[in-house]
Amino acid sequence: MSEILESTEIGRPMVRQDGPAKVRGLAPYAYEQPVQDPLHLHPVQSTIALGCIVSIDTSAAEALPGVVAVLTHENAPRLANTDDAELAVLQGHEVGFRGQFIGAVLAESPEVARQAAAAVVVDYEAEEHDADFRADHPQLTEPNAATADTFDGDVDTALRAAAHTVEATYTTPAEHNNPMEPHTTIALWDERGLTLYDSTQGPHPVRQTIAPVFGLQPDQVHVIAPHIGGGFGSKGLPHANVVLTALAAQRSGGRPVKLALTRQQMFTVAGYRTPTIQQVRLGADDDGRLSAVAMDAVEQTSKIKEFTEESGQPARMMYATPNRQVTQRLARLDIPVPSWMRAPGKCPGMFGPEVAMDEIAEACALDPIELRVRNEPESDPETGKPYSSRRLLDCLAEGAKRFGWDRRNARPGQRVQGRWRVGLGVAASTYPFLRQFSEAKVSYSADGTYAVHIGAADLGTGAWTALTQIAADALGVSAHRIRLEIGDTALPVASVAGGSSGTASWGAAIIAAADEFLAKFGVEPDPGAEVQTAAPRDSAQKEYAMHSFGAQFAEVCVNVDTGEVRVPRMLGVFSAGRIINAGTARSQFIGGMSMGIGMALHEQSVMDARFGSFVNHDFAEYHVPANADIADVDAVWLDEVDPLAGPLGARGIGEIGIVGAAAAVANATYNATGIRVRDLPLTPDKFL
Ligand code: MOS
Repeated sequence: MSEILESTEIGRPMVRQDGPAKVRGLAPYAYEQPVQDPLHLHPVQSTIALGCIVSIDTSAAEALPGVVAVLTHENAPRLANTDDAELAVLQGHEVGFRGQFIGAVLAESPEVARQAAAAVVVDYEAEEHDADFRADHPQLTEPNAATADTFDGDVDTALRAAAHTVEATYTTPAEHNNPMEPHTTIALWDERGLTLYDSTQGPHPVRQTIAPVFGLQPDQVHVIAPHIGGGFGSKGLPHANVVLTALAAQRSGGRPVKLALTRQQMFTVAGYRTPTIQQVRLGADDDGRLSAVAMDAVEQTSKIKEFTEESGQPARMMYATPNRQVTQRLARLDIPVPSWMRAPGKCPGMFGPEVAMDEIAEACALDPIELRVRNEPESDPETGKPYSSRRLLDCLAEGAKRFGWDRRNARPGQRVQGRWRVGLGVAASTYPFLRQFSEAKVSYSADGTYAVHIGAADLGTGAWTALTQIAADALGVSAHRIRLEIGDTALPVASVAGGSSGTASWGAAIIAAADEFLAKFGVEPDPGAEVQTAAPRDSAQKEYAMHSFGAQFAEVCVNVDTGEVRVPRMLGVFSAGRIINAGTARSQFIGGMSMGIGMALHEQSVMDARFGSFVNHDFAEYHVPANADIADVDAVWLDEVDPLAGPLGARGIGEIGIVGAAAAVANATYNATGIRVRDLPLTPDKFL
């Protein structure tokens, strides 16, 4: 158990430290970094899903004024390591998915580069590809790198003996992350190595991944990312665009090379959430106690690189039951490589089970909140470990009170407002907590300020602000005496802004450095005094199960003529340990919930299996919620400190807002209409 840092700055809604620079256009995003005489890159993408390039004619492209070079697999520099097939761009003539990078044009302007890329003529020998995702795919395989199947007790026997059962298939579609800022890189080679201005969630992780690809030592790669316009996981790991830019910069005559993916390209090369098909089976006795929980998920991955969306995770730990089965199988297809998207695994993996909980509550004639009360585990069902904190029931109770849960229809379809049916729904939410290795440096200046350095990344979440507050409290000074530096591999090593782990991981490092600084130099240090250290390891991380929990409540109106679903009200109640900044935390929660409304109502990436590509690859046809879709979305949290989670007492908040949100909306549409929709998104046709 950690000694908890006293708070003066922590907890208050300090305004964003990066706000003034952002509104004045002075906060440089990767593409805006001032570099000398840059060249512009535009990729050439494959138009087949599988096969190889027979010939590639770049003469017309090269003839255009302003074109400096056209790179293909025939003339591109060789990479030192091609183990990661997603990153091994222009290294061979094979094509593994439609839209894969097969060339790149370097030119004096982005317009000329784009025009020239379109003038590259490619002859292919196409092979028959498979982009057809279905649960009865003939070659479903076990994931290599994912949690093994869970088989506790005997689910089939328990289901046969159960008083009530739900057995149904639920589906979630492919979804794309779509941050506002596209994936963007500027690459520059000089005698020290490679410099990357990159839009990334983790400067050090980019360095760690990219260095071996180019045969470099990590300290020969310098990654700079002070400001990022969102990522939602798609910038958690470098994708092919980073390698392509660095590769092209080896042929630029020493000039920096800039690449900003177009929105359409982001639908192909920047990762996405795999579609899932979830077969969920629940059995319960007459009192609503779960005798069996089964979740068998099928997902897709790319043949060139395995990524497993661990949708089985929540079913392993949410509720107590003596009989449990959780499996995941992959259809390996000739398709773009899936990757992280906000709450990977947990987000889609809570949809089927949390709708199934609504269904079995009805079968047992129980309120869905009461059903969850009756199935609350004493300790973590997956590991048997005690929870550092599990206050799901408090979240449900608090939410029920605030949301007016007693106004829910006792029977679906009772409440009518004009041509709209109105209903309420609830779902649980969860996200695991972990801390990752990070270091921080504290130094003192003659002007009375403390420089606090850590290679963290603020992808729009508020890290500039939250870490300033943490540093101020850790050093016992007011926030204006802290000069924070983040977003650069020249700073101490920091973990990725991902897995909802950033603030706690980086904060623990800052606290460790501040503690050591104060112990060594006291409160009146000499100018130049400096300490750099990592957060100590903490046995509690091994001994306890640590998760954030939440309850999502939704009110919906479903139009009886058109089937349109609206969400006039939504409330999330979260238990996430100590909240560092009330303003930025609220933004994280309601941002996640808004993204959950998008998942519930709008978002789906449609794969045309004939071509192996996502066809609705822009904002005209891939719908994200807009202002008119988001009405009263509110988030509150339980006042708590989790001392087992570390010296901040904080767990993660970045992803839990989306988990369970779509299930709450779907459950509300059932309460409104009596129509049970098990396939996302909840488009109007499904209610007519
Ligand atoms: Mo988040 S999907 O772990 O960046």
